Amino acid sequence: MKRAFKILGYAVGVLVLLTGTAAAYISIKGIPSYEVKMTPEIAKLQVLRDSAAVARGAKIASILCNECHLSEDGKLTGKIMAEIPKPFGTIISRNITQDPEIGIGNWTDGELYYFLRTGIRQDGSWAPPFMPKFSRVADEDMYAIIAWLRSDDPRLAPDRREYPPTEYNFLVKVLGNTLFTAPPMPTQPIFIPDSTDKIALGKYLADGLYECFACHSGDMLKVDSDIPANSFGYYGGGIEMQNEDGEVVRSANITMDPETGIGAWNEQQFIDAVKYGKNPRGGSLQYPMTPRPILTEAEVSAIYAFLKTVPVQHHQVERYQPKITSR
Ligand code: HEC
Ligand code: HEC
Repeated sequence: MKRAFKILGYAVGVLVLLTGTAAAYISIKGIPSYEVKMTPEIAKLQVLRDSAAVARGAKIASILCNECHLSEDGKLTGKIMAEIPKPFGTIISRNITQDPEIGIGNWTDGELYYFLRTGIRQDGSWAPPFMPKFSRVADEDMYAIIAWLRSDDPRLAPDRREYPPTEYNFLVKVLGNTLFTAPPMPTQPIFIPDSTDKIALGKYLADGLYECFACHSGDMLKVDSDIPANSFGYYGGGIEMQNEDGEVVRSANITMDPETGIGAWNEQQFIDAVKYGKNPRGGSLQYPMTPRPILTEAEVSAIYAFLKTVPVQHHQVERYQPKITSR
């Protein structure tokens, strides 16, 4: 999900066009704050902290949270996010250990739930785009993340390390007032599909929980986070990102077109690509397509079954070519 910023870099060009009065207004207004509209049910929420929930939460967090909040010595104290493109300034994630002052030890389950859905804290302050908002994740998975945040995972033990809060620059203020604002709370419960409904489960994992569609659509600025299938170039790929060496890597077309997508792959090749980053053409897939070994074969197989139902796109993406190095 630091993916988001790699990609956000390309929004810069569009946004510098916003000038004049709008600019002055936003510069004064800053990062917006919001009215806190927690329902009584959410305010008194207490998630079940059994070991199954904690384990599920830890697994989800390993894909959705740790890359931004885990420090180099392996604690969830937050860090300076070095990989964010320069135009956004220096962005620092926060301490989410159980320390009651510096971390989130004093937050209630309801406050965490509301924040993770919307980015809005109890004082109305709002976390800008760099902290993702989880608006399509199933309720039970949200509870699992919170159960894990409360657990005895040593990485979450109270730690008083603290960075100064990020001072957001003009560009982030513009983004926070325009393209990326606080999503509304879901009005209906969101359920995890039954594992016997393979396609529905695959759709949830790819569109709801792990956000494959956001990287694999055709244009970061035309991603529809309410209805992923309405995103431009849905699963047809082509968004420009950067690998760890700053080279351009474009997301792949993973619709079932046999020429330009993965229609000629078999299921095992797909599983090896998603779980282990194995590229069937040889070598490894490039960052930010990171291996996800923690996903089960059944989960990746469900994503594959779902992708088979996605409208095929004939869209040739100019893919990353590894440099030939002498041996
Ligand atoms: C892409 C990076 C990124 C990811 C992924 C991410 N966060 Fe954050 N998170 C941030 C940043 C940056 C902030 C600080 C926002 C600010 O300055 O207001 C933050 C803030 C927070 C806060 C508020 C802490 C406070 O004291 O105000 C909580 C709680 C939190 N994150 C939890 C999570 C959890 C749980 C996950 C996974 C489900 C997660 N984050 C995933 C970047 C990230
Ligand atoms: C951070 C953005 C990002 C996310 C999230 C992401 N991918 Fe990717 N994916 C990429 C990029 C970039 C490539 C191309 C890598 C390369 O060219 O080496 C890629 C490549 C792939 C490939 C290889 C296709 C080919 O033709 O080589 C598959 C399969 C794939 N992704 C599936 C998935 C699935 C399934 C998910 C969700 C679990 C997912 N990706 C999430 C960015 C992402």
